[in-house]
Amino acid sequence: MLFAAVVAISVVIAGGHNSLQAASSVGKDTLTMITSPDYPPYEFYDTKGGDRQIVGFDIDIANTLAKELGFKLKVMESDFNGLIPALQANRADFVMAGMTPTPERQKNVDFSIIYYEAKDTIVAPKGSNFKQPKDLSGKKVGVQLGTIQEQNAKKIAEKVTGIQLKQLNKVPEVIQEMKSGRIDAAIVEDTVARGFAQANPELEFNVIPSESASGSAIAFPKNSALVAPFNKVLQQMKDKGELAKLATKWFSVNAKVDAASSSAAKGGLNLDFTRIFPDIPFILKGIPITLLFTLLSVFLGLIWGTVLSLLKITNIKPLTWLANAYTSVFRGTPLLLQLALVYYATPQLTGYDISALQAGVLTFTLNSGAYMSETIRAGIQAVDKGQSEAAMSMGVSYWLMMWDIILPQALKNILPALVNETIGLLKDSALVSTIGVVEILRSAQIVGANKYIYFEPLLFAGLIYYILVMGLTFGASALERRLRQSE
Ligand code: ARG
Repeated sequence: MLFAAVVAISVVIAGGHNSLQAASSVGKDTLTMITSPDYPPYEFYDTKGGDRQIVGFDIDIANTLAKELGFKLKVMESDFNGLIPALQANRADFVMAGMTPTPERQKNVDFSIIYYEAKDTIVAPKGSNFKQPKDLSGKKVGVQLGTIQEQNAKKIAEKVTGIQLKQLNKVPEVIQEMKSGRIDAAIVEDTVARGFAQANPELEFNVIPSESASGSAIAFPKNSALVAPFNKVLQQMKDKGELAKLATKWFSVNAKVDAASSSAAKGGLNLDFTRIFPDIPFILKGIPITLLFTLLSVFLGLIWGTVLSLLKITNIKPLTWLANAYTSVFRGTPLLLQLALVYYATPQLTGYDISALQAGVLTFTLNSGAYMSETIRAGIQAVDKGQSEAAMSMGVSYWLMMWDIILPQALKNILPALVNETIGLLKDSALVSTIGVVEILRSAQIVGANKYIYFEPLLFAGLIYYILVMGLTFGASALERRLRQSE
């Protein structure tokens, strides 16, 4: 376990190294692009055969741009509303995510020229016949959080009465809400809407007339030296018709977006797992990441928890006080919030570009350390007083006594509690999917986004978690039996 943890730690540290390159601006050979691959055909995961590759219209353009300008390209991902923060934290050199320049965004980032013009549509169940904003009066309308569609929907809601907005993180979630009947309509870009309508025959979409065009442009950190060269190459691609060619490749009606055979989606809950068969290897690849993450967090959390517990039982009051305050803060605030803070605030506060995996391990260590410290403290205090009295009367020093006599007995006592904690961490590890670590849950969501389906990949992910937890439980009871025998 110790060895595995050390190996794992070095993997994480080395893995984080790459992303450091993005921190400076030009003067390097690789450009980092960040995108939100929930948006076929602009950007989505090609999950066939299990490799984790982001493909799409934007990716093709980015590759051409990088090649023309003599850079290598690295593609990272986050939720759409994390893209501009990523540029501001210097996590990436540019964003391509079908992103539309808006005055607010322009305050924070620079944009290239527009490379594709899209329009907004109203997506709704067949027969709804929502053609214009005013048809949405009194309806519940879904949009992707942080997008221009959200803004446009807000504008519509100012004019049309009784619209209730519902913002979700990902477009597939918006569509799913509609299929579940929780919203009546959604505002989605035309090319994206077409994909969903193809895969879900019970949906229809209508282009909203006039005003609300959503042209796409590339976003850069403010004053980036890349804007001018990128614009030059983009213009060339426009003039030579290359952009139009790529648009036909990805946006034409029979473009090869992975729209799943549409037969299954006839309303009701008809599950069809055959649709995710080809993507199972992709989901399975999330397992090592989840395990790496859990193992590391448990190991480091145990060390940190032990330190804290020792502080809690010393006679030095200020240390005890500090350890207690620490525990109360980390137990008193949501883990998800701590995770977001560590991931997004670290670069701004320290200048260190912490990778998502590192941020996850750090947060989980800090958090589970707080919980474990209580368990360990109880374990220590449950060790018979006679043990420490005997050690002390023989002149064994305090720390040696702790390390050699008390802690081993305490750990044995609390083994079941530690297994509980590990199971908790294993399942909570799914939270790091929110900052873009592609572990089991996120892999499943990616497959869902790709295939325009929802339940099957999630159910499959649930099965994997369950099997892992079962394995852990059996392993732990075997260990406990051995320990008891050795008594
Ligand atoms: N064009 C819209 C905007 O800029 C939506 C883009 C969403 N992109 C994505 N990759 N999910 O707000």
